Amino acid sequence: MVSRVIPVEDFDLVIFGGTGDLARRKILPGLFRRFCSGQMPPAARIIGAARSDLTDDAYRRDIKLALEEFVAKDSRPAAAVKGFLEQLHYVRIDATGTEGWSALRKLTRKDEATVQAFYFSVAPSLFGPLAERLHTHKIAGANARIVVEKPFGRDLESARILNATLRDHFDESQIYRIDHYLGKETVQNLMAVRFGNMLFEPLWNAQYVDHVQITVAETVGVGGRGAYYDKSGAMRDMVQNHLMQLLCLIAMEPPAHFDPDSVRDEKLKVIRALDPPKRDDIVRGQYESPKKGEDYLDEVENRSSITESFIAMKLMISNWRWAGVPFYLRTGKRLKARASEISIVFKETPHSIFDEDSGRHRNILSIRLQPNEGITLGVTIKEPGPGGMRLVDVPLDMTFADALGPETDDVPDAYERLIMDVIRGNQTLFMRGDEVEAAWAWTDPIIKEWTRRGERPKPYDIETTGPEDAAVLMHREGRRWLDIKA
Ligand code: BG6
Repeated sequence: MVSRVIPVEDFDLVIFGGTGDLARRKILPGLFRRFCSGQMPPAARIIGAARSDLTDDAYRRDIKLALEEFVAKDSRPAAAVKGFLEQLHYVRIDATGTEGWSALRKLTRKDEATVQAFYFSVAPSLFGPLAERLHTHKIAGANARIVVEKPFGRDLESARILNATLRDHFDESQIYRIDHYLGKETVQNLMAVRFGNMLFEPLWNAQYVDHVQITVAETVGVGGRGAYYDKSGAMRDMVQNHLMQLLCLIAMEPPAHFDPDSVRDEKLKVIRALDPPKRDDIVRGQYESPKKGEDYLDEVENRSSITESFIAMKLMISNWRWAGVPFYLRTGKRLKARASEISIVFKETPHSIFDEDSGRHRNILSIRLQPNEGITLGVTIKEPGPGGMRLVDVPLDMTFADALGPETDDVPDAYERLIMDVIRGNQTLFMRGDEVEAAWAWTDPIIKEWTRRGERPKPYDIETTGPEDAAVLMHREGRRWLDIKA
């Protein structure tokens, strides 16, 4: 397989929060990899903008350190690092004042041929002031795009206010709301598998699917993000956005075209068709550990916290395609392995012609997001050899690294891909404002009810699969979670 790198148009990318953690850990290492692949035009400018008083050279030195920390040594030849750093600039800026804006105006190009992208890698409270200043200082031209990160609001009302603030200054077609899960290679493959093959789509409905499982399991705890996380919990941090987006891609109708609005219209319909979950269809958990410092309550430094670090839930979608098919979602921190997987569990055959002791068999299509990206389809075959007709399930394994060779090591990570899509002007993998609001409209009553009840989440030991009640959620309906395996 030969990968094709298509250089993007010339661009100026301004990163507000250019010295921050996300810029150093993800955005700039990602851009560096695109530079190395030849995708970044030589005249493109990356402009870090932040409060610190730095010269261009000091900024370049800092980003060099970031590359050393976040890019593997053999992927950063010295000449490439030098070339990349030469494309970096820095402006000291006051997001809510006047300092730095005229310097930024001078540094950014406004000609038709240059794409302008403004990455708001800052607290949402600064989105408004930044958007406004980009216009009052006549920096943003007709070709401008803004990129915003989650948390995109913490409820419906705050999301609406944020959307309105951004739309006061930019058209929806210029706003790129990042959900980095949509940039993952396998997530896009999910669409290719569903809509590029005849094989799956006819079976993709309530007649053939027994249930769907979506698991995003992490081994990390909340670490240094305790203050943020304790105010969010797994519902706001993961379910409302990442898991919801995965669910949409599984459940949506085939869009008429693979273009931003066709895809996003279909996703929106799924969110709007979600039933409010019943109280006992949700299990909230919080990790605990006998070791001091490893416990959730220690990590967030709040011994009375009732925030969940784990959630398992059963969702139902009220439409013709999915009526009666449960979607089980599960995500949590400090679980036994890091594994994100979507599994479509098909129904058993309507009648078995084999002996009863040949067991129960069903096909499972598993789409693995990380690690070891790939897709496996479990099929039932005869166990080889003598001894009569014994059935066994074997995986048809489409691990991408095996099937497509070493070039899969080189696939862009989510941020790289998404930033390049911003430059190309392709919004397909970004959330539209109405999608975000619909997701909050569904999430809000659930969180409000928890707050009203004030219940403690169920404790679970670290390095397990979460609280026992999550298993019960499945067992009571004669189902079980697939194992969480790294
Ligand atoms: C982020 C959440 O959006 O996604 C984090 O805020 C979480 O809490 C992270 O750890 C998971 O992303 P990934 O790509 O490592 O699965």
